Amino acid sequence: MTKSVTVVDHPLVQHKLTLLRRKEASTSEFRTLLREIGLFLGYEALRDLPLGRIQIETPVCTMEAPVLAGKKLTFISVLRAGDGLLGPMLELVPSARVGQIGLARDEETLMPTKYFFKVPQDTASRVNVILDPMLATGHSAIRAVQEIKDAGAKDVRFVCLLAAPEGLKALTEAHPDVPIITAAIDEKLNEKAYIVPGLGDAGDRLFGTK
Ligand code: URA
Repeated sequence: MTKSVTVVDHPLVQHKLTLLRRKEASTSEFRTLLREIGLFLGYEALRDLPLGRIQIETPVCTMEAPVLAGKKLTFISVLRAGDGLLGPMLELVPSARVGQIGLARDEETLMPTKYFFKVPQDTASRVNVILDPMLATGHSAIRAVQEIKDAGAKDVRFVCLLAAPEGLKALTEAHPDVPIITAAIDEKLNEKAYIVPGLGDAGDRLFGTK
């Protein structure tokens, strides 16, 4: 991956994103749409996976056909909203491993503190795709990437649904080697660090809490 920020501007993604943002969207609609958009984001995040060739027989003839060369993948969900992107990623690559990172905001420093972290031991040799629907201030994203790198990761990618310009700037400055794949770049953050126009609290909308 060379491009640091990719916006998946496919018309179907943009259409589904509009439906998902609407405050009237039910929990079940939100989940379904997040899954559908997540598939597109996953394809884009993994578009540089290496291919090998195998010989197969079609009903017509034999051919040398492309297959994944076997690069190992880990999808890392930033709890809890990241779980909404995990399902579609595993649909694309069922053999992938799953990592989790739990970050809570320290109310004094407003910075993320880690309460859970688990990734495979051989993280250094894997493509590590961090999943978090909302790239807002970038604090959690920067911390998540740092934790994965501290665990040995060399290839780290960040997949989100929406990004605020503030978060994009912070993440690309802190980790310029990490490609970011998003469905949209929104206008700004508000005083509560919500993305504007955004979609509200992704975790609440995904799990029907609040
Ligand atoms: N997290 C969310 O769930 N929503 C935002 O707008 C920002 C961070």
